[in-house]
Amino acid sequence: MKNVVITGSTRGIGFSMAKEFLRAGCNVTISGRGEALSEATQAELSPFKGKYIYIQCNVQDKASLQNLWDASLKHWGKVDIWINNAGQNVPHKFSWETGESYTENVIKTNITGMIFGSQVAAAGMIKQGHGAIYSMEGLGSNNMIQVKTILYGTTKHALRYFMRGLAKELEGTGVIAGRLSPGMMLTDFITKTPDGDPSEVISDEKFKKLFNILADRPETVAKFFIPEILRNTKNDVLIAWLTNRKAAWRFMTAPFRKGRLI
Ligand SMILES: NC(=O)c1ccc[n+]([C@@H]2O[C@H](COP(=O)([O-])OP(=O)(O)OC[C@H]3O[C@@H](n4cnc5c(N)ncnc54)[C@H](OP(=O)(O)O)[C@@H]3O)[C@@H](O)[C@H]2O)c1
Repeated sequence: MKNVVITGSTRGIGFSMAKEFLRAGCNVTISGRGEALSEATQAELSPFKGKYIYIQCNVQDKASLQNLWDASLKHWGKVDIWINNAGQNVPHKFSWETGESYTENVIKTNITGMIFGSQVAAAGMIKQGHGAIYSMEGLGSNNMIQVKTILYGTTKHALRYFMRGLAKELEGTGVIAGRLSPGMMLTDFITKTPDGDPSEVISDEKFKKLFNILADRPETVAKFFIPEILRNTKNDVLIAWLTNRKAAWRFMTAPFRKGRLI
């Protein structure tokens, strides 16, 4: 039975992965910036009482991540899997139109937070002699350039470089590092702006069409990820949901996928 820590797991793919790990019999530390999980979330998790804990953690702060590790280790005895999932988006604007706070936030969460999380997990896992660290890729990881998303893309591009480098550095330690690629998913990340307002991209007809063809619900992606993560023993792996083949098939069958999600 594995003990799992997921940063940014109060909603979206992080929460779906947490539930899927719990269904697979794992113990899970759920975390996010809030003091506690909402009542609705707690109610949803009621079948798993005793199998999960919630720890407040803002990934922009290394001490907060260290506390997430320490509290998880204290509670579960060891941490087998650590997932850097916490991530933020920026408003759909050109880079030069994007405000300073959004620019700083996306870098501090998606790059600095992911690196801090990996540093904390790697040091702890090397000490315990085993473990696996994964980070969540996104648009930009594979070099694709999409205007008005390049700040976010820069962070996910850096994430791939860092995680591949980390895998090399970890060779021979008993600890492995890998990446998760979820494709596109129907979460707050897409449907809302960073300030929580309805996002303008989802009313754009072109985006809607593409989204309905390619995207999935986070539950679907989590159902694919979790058995793959639990099975994996290889270093530097990429566990990808939306492969080129799958995307090509989706386009071929597009007429049957109208209005699927939004
Ligand atoms: N949705 C997509 O299409 C898509 C595609 C590719 C990759 N991704 C990646 O998948 C990951 C999760 O995205 P999602 O779509 O599930 O987004 P989401 O629904 O907006 O959830 C984001 C999660 O991150 C947490 N979070 C945000 N800032 C944080 C911080 N500073 N410290 C700790 N936790 C923080 C949030 O928790 P609190 O608000 O409770 O703190 C929340 O649990 C991100 O890394 C994103 O880049 C998403």
